[in-house]
Amino acid sequence: MGRTERPNRKCPMPRLQLSTWQEVDTYLHSRRDIIMPIGSTEQHGPNGLIGTDSICPEIIANGVEEKSGVMVGPTLSIGMAQHHMAFAGTITYRPQVLIETLKDVVASLTKHGFERIYFLNGHGGNIATITAAFNEIYTESSLKGSNRPFRLKLQSWFMGRRFREISKELYGDSEGSHATPSEVSLSYYAYPDFVKKAEMSPKIAAKGPIRDADDYRRRFPDGRIGSDPSLSTVAHGERIYHASVEDMAEDLKAFVDEA
Ligand code: NI
Repeated sequence: MGRTERPNRKCPMPRLQLSTWQEVDTYLHSRRDIIMPIGSTEQHGPNGLIGTDSICPEIIANGVEEKSGVMVGPTLSIGMAQHHMAFAGTITYRPQVLIETLKDVVASLTKHGFERIYFLNGHGGNIATITAAFNEIYTESSLKGSNRPFRLKLQSWFMGRRFREISKELYGDSEGSHATPSEVSLSYYAYPDFVKKAEMSPKIAAKGPIRDADDYRRRFPDGRIGSDPSLSTVAHGERIYHASVEDMAEDLKAFVDEA
């Protein structure tokens, strides 16, 4: 993951994908929390990467791991993005498929003994569906009982106080709500070799409601909503990274320590 990766790090290895099963076993003897980054694969305007919504929670999760030693699971990089389907490259699940996917992911993790599962989200369009999935999962344990106690949390990397202060300072009214300069900057920090340049016209994109894909393309022809992502830079992304890692580490700790 770009410049935050530490080569040759020693055990214990808190990244699930880079651990052996014995290392996961050992981790579970001392703690029961895991971060699952969850994002989307969807257009992000004229200069934003298709993977923005997955790249952002992934780099923040890895930063939280370095700070707190929490295990980070594989990024769930396809989400609910039906409204972006009129732009090339977008891949969506139907809401029901995302719900079923999350049910299986949570059932797998709790079977191994994870008890605090923190979904670190990068896509506003996932929130309603992830919340519905949590309701399905809790309903199942309310009706049938669960063998092990577990708790779920959904948090988005851009919801913390430190991040919001920086985004307001850097971008003000140009932040908008899709293909934002904040998320584009953070993705550029993760992948500085993939910075793109594009003219924005109009400078700040229109705002409006989100419905189906054709309606979206008509209202927001270049994919942006209310934003000017031409302001994005790697240096901004670095500031945003550190702010959001602090925000999310604090939020994760509160979740894990909750009585
Ligand atoms: Ni996004």
